Amino acid sequence: RQTALAGGSIGKDGYRHYMDKELHEHPLVIGQTLRRMIDPATRRVVMPPLPFDLAAIPRATITACGSAFYAGLLGRHWLESEARLPVDVDVASELRYRDAPLSAGGLALLISQSGETADTLAALRALRAGGQHVLSVLNVPESSMARDSDMVLETVAGPEICVASTKAFTAQLSVLACLAIATGRARGTLSAEREQVLVQALLDLPGKAAELFDLRADIQHVAAIVADARDVLYLGRGAYFPVALEGALKLKEISYIHAEAYAAGEMKHGPIALIDRSVPVVAIAPSGRLFGKTASNLQEARARGGRLIAFTDAEGAAGLRGIAEALVVLPEADPFTAPILHSIAVQMLAYEVALLKGTDVDQPRNLAKSVTVE
Ligand code: G6P
Repeated sequence: RQTALAGGSIGKDGYRHYMDKELHEHPLVIGQTLRRMIDPATRRVVMPPLPFDLAAIPRATITACGSAFYAGLLGRHWLESEARLPVDVDVASELRYRDAPLSAGGLALLISQSGETADTLAALRALRAGGQHVLSVLNVPESSMARDSDMVLETVAGPEICVASTKAFTAQLSVLACLAIATGRARGTLSAEREQVLVQALLDLPGKAAELFDLRADIQHVAAIVADARDVLYLGRGAYFPVALEGALKLKEISYIHAEAYAAGEMKHGPIALIDRSVPVVAIAPSGRLFGKTASNLQEARARGGRLIAFTDAEGAAGLRGIAEALVVLPEADPFTAPILHSIAVQMLAYEVALLKGTDVDQPRNLAKSVTVE
């Protein structure tokens, strides 16, 4: 009987949909995944023994499909900023045929919930043949990808039943954040003090993720605006661009509303032509280094009659009142981990829109949980 699986049970536990249940498991799953990688006594990241030297890796190639690819984009952000490691990221269906030049002794980082996605598995084999060390971030430790990897870092998300990934995504982000810390330490780019700050931010995550469910009424208010639209634009910069991509994908998958995510600075190079009152713009724009830039992009959209919705924090909200029609104000968080919280919030928005549309949330048309054919 599989009733006490890591990450939660396999029933619906009284929730209307698996997706709602799995959204509510974010705090648990993030906590369980981090417990595997953080020593509570020293408050340091502890990696299992690796069959290669992290300090000697010249370059990493990250590849995955779907939401796992977006996790990879955030992984690149952290590996670049905290470990100063050069990183390429590509979707597996492209990477496997791209004949990309690989650095000798480079790191191949594969990310997959199922460990069975055909393109990701093929990319793994191509990277292995190219002499890369293969490290996979997987939710199913006995999967095909696990068997072909040099090392697996496990996401302890438990069984994910809803076709659209939610809790596995934040578990992947938790592992990638820890990997970036470990790599930064190994490469000498991360001080002990900075590691303590980042680890504390990670340890604070489950509690802050639980607070997000208090925002349900605000998210429902936004959902009513989005549900009426035929097209929606998601905008974000830096670490929030992958969050925008995740929000747009989740909306497409489960509500069948057309959504596109753009790096906010690219809006003027095309999507701004689409903006009018019928195309809501969902911005992921908390305070921080790039806030002013994103806010000015939003001003431009506003000036063209766009209806703006912003996911932000208290400080960002102060700057966005008067620009945005609706705000969802997330709890304060360290900039290192805030993108993880925002990912949960945009997933919650997609869920609320799907409820309004009355779609089959857990089994969206034409989609499969695990795509084992090319
Ligand atoms: C399918 C699922 C997505 C998932 C993607 C990659 O498209 O619907 O939710 O992100 O596959 O799956 P994987 O198991 O490799 O993470």
